[in-house]
Amino acid sequence: MNRLLPLLIALLPLGLACQPSPKTQDPAPSPAQADSAPTANPPTNAPAAPPSSAPASAPDSAPTSNATMPAAHCQAVAQLNAMDPRRPVPLQPMMAWHQKQNMQEHLVAIEGIVAALANEDWEAVKKASASIESSPQMQQMCQHMGAGAEGFTQMALDFHTRADGIAEAATAKDVKATLKATAHTLQACTSCHAAFRQDVIDAKSWQERTGQNHVPGKGH
Ligand code: HEC
Repeated sequence: MNRLLPLLIALLPLGLACQPSPKTQDPAPSPAQADSAPTANPPTNAPAAPPSSAPASAPDSAPTSNATMPAAHCQAVAQLNAMDPRRPVPLQPMMAWHQKQNMQEHLVAIEGIVAALANEDWEAVKKASASIESSPQMQQMCQHMGAGAEGFTQMALDFHTRADGIAEAATAKDVKATLKATAHTLQACTSCHAAFRQDVIDAKSWQERTGQNHVPGKGH
């Protein structure tokens, strides 16, 4: 079974990772030339050959992609993707960063909820949970983020609906119910993390994979 892994690693860069960026036409290849492996059969002085692991699969890929993204880097990304069984969520770089920021805020919200709950400071619990509750904007963003990953948006919306229960329990000043609602919410975090990973791709590939032609602006 292990024999399949090198094959997967060899194929992944073509379809998923390390796609050539749109500016592959760059006529001045000189700066990157030392790292790239432009010939199909590199001679003995190939500089950056990794010591072990990945077989010499990269030279097969288009030389243009090597010009913008070193083959060794593409191999490393492909190795990671081959190990990670989660479904990819295709995102453009700005969207991926935006998502990461949201995620960090989600964790800060949970931190605030737990800290406030320990003091039975109900207003503070509600204030902290407000940032993860459902709202029309949240719904729109989740749909946008999940445009290329079936099931993602549904899980995201379910997460926010669960989070709504935290403020409800806090309004009733019920410690146990607030803890339960928080655990119920955290379960949505962990199931989504078990199911999905980011797959950062360029704008053109994103448009192809999602059928949408949004180009992220300042917001995302
Ligand atoms: C609908 C899916 C989904 C839900 C729900 C979700 N996450 Fe995430 N989260 C992700 C994805 C996808 C990533 C990116 C994983 C990767 O790096 O490939 C992520 C990454 C993160 C990260 C890492 C951010 C970074 O800087 O790299 C944190 C922290 C995080 N999530 C916290 C949370 C918390 C806390 C919750 C719940 C309160 C939550 N997430 C709910 C999908 C989700």
